[in-house]
Amino acid sequence: MSSPTIPHQLIEKIKQAQHIVVFTGAGISAESGVPTFRDAQTGLWAKYDPLELATPEAFQRDPKLVWEWYAWRREKINHVKPNAGHLALVELAQQVPQFTLITQNVDGLHQQAGSQNVIELHGNIHRIKCANKQNVVENWQQLDGSPPECPLCGDHLRPDIVWFGEALPVDAISNAFAAAEQCDVLFSIGTSSLVQPAASIPLEALQHGATVVEINPNPTPLTEQVTFSILGQAGQILPTLIRQLTA
Ligand code: APR
Repeated sequence: MSSPTIPHQLIEKIKQAQHIVVFTGAGISAESGVPTFRDAQTGLWAKYDPLELATPEAFQRDPKLVWEWYAWRREKINHVKPNAGHLALVELAQQVPQFTLITQNVDGLHQQAGSQNVIELHGNIHRIKCANKQNVVENWQQLDGSPPECPLCGDHLRPDIVWFGEALPVDAISNAFAAAEQCDVLFSIGTSSLVQPAASIPLEALQHGATVVEINPNPTPLTEQVTFSILGQAGQILPTLIRQLTA
């Protein structure tokens, strides 16, 4: 497979950049074997629409079903590793004075690859919190398929993930938009650019004069507006970009 082509002008922009933001979605974890959010569900979960399960209403209606779905996803994620795309972003961070990584992913693979200070817009599947008090609970027992009880108040525990209809963590979203406003270059990688408010982050960067690069094998609603659109897989494009940047 020939290496993807990285525009020379983009390499120059990166070399001159003082602050680079990278904004990722499920596509950057696809090459690790983590199905993207809108990929067809498999096995016994095939009959469920993730958009139906990842909601407070679903958890209210059937906490055991939602808890088991996340336990299934957590188990799958526990068996995968960061891919070349995640690792290339760790290297990119070392090539620029200021680097901000913002992710919509909940799999923790950026941190596992070595990325620091990751802004998690939608939470983290490995973190569990009290459904009532919202405090993160470090030690909990998985007894049977049902959600464990909070040791402090006895209510259900739930994944520390932002469900559809829930507000994003205030600090995360404000830090993300602040970085988008200040950066020189923003990469939008592996996201369908469909879910707000996250999908507006690259537009914020564009409006503040940043160079915006999209890396995705498929076009998205953002593609028409970006400075550079590189069609392809992040796990191939990002290592090539790093090689050309450091050549
Ligand atoms: N490299 C780069 N991009 C890829 C790759 C790859 N190897 N494989 C797939 N993609 C792209 C797809 O073309 C698609 O545009 O990744 C994108 C994945 O889109 P979604 O599944 O919609 O995931 P995402 O954009 O992260 O969803 C945003 O909405 O679904 C909710 O909370 C969930 O965080 C998620 C948010």
